[in-house]
Amino acid sequence: MNIHGQPHRSIEADHSTRSARIIDQTYLPHQVEWRDLQTMEDAAEAIQVMRVRGAPLIGATAAFGLYFALRDDAKDAALQRAYVVLHATRPTAINLRWALDRVKRVVAPLNVEQRAEAAWNEALAICEDDVRTNHAIGKHGLELFRAIQAKKGDASATLNVMTHCNAGWLATVDWGTAISPIYQAHDAGMKVHVWVSETRPRGQGASLTAFELKEHGVPYTLIVDNNAGHLLQRGLVDVVIVGTDRVTAHGDVANKIGTYLKALAAKAHDVPFYVATPVSTIDWTITDGIREIPIEQRSAREVTHMPGLNAAGVREEVLITPAGTQARNDGFDVTPASLVTALVTEHGVVQATERAMRDLLAKMQAQG
Ligand code: MRU
Repeated sequence: MNIHGQPHRSIEADHSTRSARIIDQTYLPHQVEWRDLQTMEDAAEAIQVMRVRGAPLIGATAAFGLYFALRDDAKDAALQRAYVVLHATRPTAINLRWALDRVKRVVAPLNVEQRAEAAWNEALAICEDDVRTNHAIGKHGLELFRAIQAKKGDASATLNVMTHCNAGWLATVDWGTAISPIYQAHDAGMKVHVWVSETRPRGQGASLTAFELKEHGVPYTLIVDNNAGHLLQRGLVDVVIVGTDRVTAHGDVANKIGTYLKALAAKAHDVPFYVATPVSTIDWTITDGIREIPIEQRSAREVTHMPGLNAAGVREEVLITPAGTQARNDGFDVTPASLVTALVTEHGVVQATERAMRDLLAKMQAQG
């Protein structure tokens, strides 16, 4: 997608130096700062401090991290060490494990001398697949948007979409998951407007989704997280669509903290609540999201302090609580499958039920 009219991806391979260039998202929206990743430690640090974030992008970055490690030492012990370090960077997004497993599966049977090259190629393939996957999710999501628009009975009416956190191109290699149908609707000439919730405490909606939509020219309005129920109650939202960090085999969905409340409010007001997910985000080994999905516990400082630009244009963090206030900072919550209207995958729209998910798995296995 575009930054200042120039097409970019959130992670770009540099073939001459065999490094990966990322947009350091901790500087957005005020500064577009590119950063080179050259070592496994660079990749792990970038994931851990959220220079890159969003489930699919975390996975792609980890894949490059495994390549960097194997370039230095491709023996079994080094492979395992790097896997463990990268896997420990963030706990909730299953794409991290998925991408590491994918690279490991390819390199493990090879001779030590062949492993680094194979890991590089697999990291590139993960990126290309991600772009294709997200484009396909967008296509299926667009069909849903068209159907919702048709029900409104006025083809020229604006479709009001609500999203949470950032599941746009900055959370993936390109296109995004939940935002991909929004881009495709906008590009197809549909009138679409997005309610962007700020997503306290880190503000991924305010800083990243707003940045993306502005760069692409999609109309949006920023709201505080607590405004979502009010807008849903007043009929100002036609559809809610979010991304996810992990979906269980029965359709429960982990996503950024605050997602569950939006799903509850959407259900109460009969507004469809869709979850855009590549199948790489489905954890087929678990069924009960509330009991089995690990929820990242983050620093209290993210809650007690707020970052921003001061009047002089300098980045600053201010304390917003009485000094010493205790704070709890759960990074994600789990929305039970019963609140999810459907999952939008690259294979099409799938009900968030045990049976539909089983059928999806069978279809994927049949396709190899
Ligand atoms: O903590 P973050 O910013 O990594 O959380 C990101 C999200 O919650 C996204 O919605 C999710 O990873 C899906 S990204 C396509």
